[in-house]
Amino acid sequence: KISAGILGLGSYMPEKILTNFDLEKMVDTSDEWIRTRTGISERRIADPNDATSDMATRAALKALDDAGVSAADIDMIMVATITPDMIFPATACIVQDNIGAKNAAAFDLEAACSGFIYGLSIAKQFIETGTYRYVLVIAADVLSRITDWQDRNTCVLFGDGAGAAVVGPVEEGYGILSTYLGSDGSGGKYLHIKAGGSRMPASHETVDKRLHYMYMDGGEVFKFAVKIMDTASMEAIERAGLKPDDIDWFVPHQANIRIIESARKRLGISPERVCLTIHKYGNMSAATIPVTLDEAAHEDKFKKGDNIVLVGFGGGLTWASCVLKW
Ligand code: ACO
Repeated sequence: KISAGILGLGSYMPEKILTNFDLEKMVDTSDEWIRTRTGISERRIADPNDATSDMATRAALKALDDAGVSAADIDMIMVATITPDMIFPATACIVQDNIGAKNAAAFDLEAACSGFIYGLSIAKQFIETGTYRYVLVIAADVLSRITDWQDRNTCVLFGDGAGAAVVGPVEEGYGILSTYLGSDGSGGKYLHIKAGGSRMPASHETVDKRLHYMYMDGGEVFKFAVKIMDTASMEAIERAGLKPDDIDWFVPHQANIRIIESARKRLGISPERVCLTIHKYGNMSAATIPVTLDEAAHEDKFKKGDNIVLVGFGGGLTWASCVLKW
């Protein structure tokens, strides 16, 4: 029996930092409001010359190096993103060419902030059935390009970044123990970009009405997120045959510190067991989980045999959780 797990991790964060104080000069907000309501102090903004595939490629190369796997050995590449370089071809195909993964299938995966865990779940199926050996799961977003910098309700929340994982066979009983994926399309209206697709193609009018930027009903998303973060975590924990007490680390989607805190308390996980990057990177959509996981792994937080819960929620609405045995 084959067990699938993470063999290597990598991330790329843009150098440019946008602080809350910078935002005070752009919209009617304050550092104090942003910190106390969201937990965010600063976020990264991509270089103007970089698109999602550029950041995804850098993260992928680091993950390959970390795993000791060559690009030619990768069987499949998924890029979870809501900011593809273009509508098509897939950003994953651009990455495939950039890294020279000449034997890989490649496609993009659109599950918004839940995308990385959706990707891990797909990788697990291909590896455990013996169909593929190495799968590259990348999550990358340049949210700054779809953020309305005149809208204080959203522009304070988001940042740019990329994270990647090489998934492959691991020692039996380790790796991805369980996954749980879900969706509720009736909530799509709470978080979306209206224009630029087949429903409302780009026109001068859509640009004038600022319909190519992210719209969010923050209150509705907040209520949904608070509920789903602990129920989805519990589902993955139970599917792994574990109890909350068995959990060593909690790596949640980093959208709002208050959402994370609420889930942490309900699950009874102590604060020092939660991996956080929200204060310095904000919400990078699907990239938040692999970036946070990569940083924690390279700080040597995880010991062999530790149980790690990943959980995310986002546009769709979607949610996803999994338990990893390190
Ligand atoms: N600075 C100052 N005031 C602000 C700001 C700001 N940046 N943004 C909103 N306000 C104001 C509002 O206008 C409102 O003023 P009013 O009472 O005069 O109308 C007041 O602050 C309170 O607004 P609330 O919406 O009640 O603030 P809340 O405490 O709910 O926090 C927030 C808002 C941070 C957006 C919260 O609702 C949230 O985090 N929601 C979830 C967001 C999320 O998780 N998104 C996921 C996106 S995932 C993806 O797929 C990309």
